[in-house]
Amino acid sequence: MIYPIVIYGNPVLKKVAAEVERDYPELKQLIDDMFKTLQKSEGVGLAAPQIGLSKRLFVIDLNPIAEDKPEFKGYKKVFINPTIVEFSDEEKVYSEGCLSIPGLSEDVRRPSKIKMHYFDENWVEHTEEFSEFPARAIQHEYDHLEGHVYTDRISLIRKQLISKKLAAISKGKFTCSYKYKM
Ligand code: NI
Repeated sequence: MIYPIVIYGNPVLKKVAAEVERDYPELKQLIDDMFKTLQKSEGVGLAAPQIGLSKRLFVIDLNPIAEDKPEFKGYKKVFINPTIVEFSDEEKVYSEGCLSIPGLSEDVRRPSKIKMHYFDENWVEHTEEFSEFPARAIQHEYDHLEGHVYTDRISLIRKQLISKKLAAISKGKFTCSYKYKM
């Protein structure tokens, strides 16, 4: 099934998500549906809180950017109960958007490399380094599990400048091409 995307202002996006249990029912189906939902909305990452499920799980699918960056063709990954165990000192600024905040994008500064501990869809444990675009997408999705969205990380002045837009989005005043819920 395709889930509706939860929009900014819904309290689930502010909650710290709970760990996924080993015997979580229909986990494979959920992951499959999250990928389908992501593809439908043409995003590159989707965290469980964005479908209203406050669990520590997100999926990344970089195929939408593979036209510009062919090295990411077929790049699909599942992250269950992830933790970021190392951040690089080096940081980069990159323009981010979010399916839960339609029509907005803002420059966000983040570490350019991370090391992450996580489980994949088969509960295989990984400790892996990520850089460049994957590091960016992963940190953005990880924030959702911690109850944050990227606009929490922008400068106060930018936040003031977009505060009316954010308020409008949280009241349903926006357009987007995918199914959503407030
Ligand atoms: Ni997001």
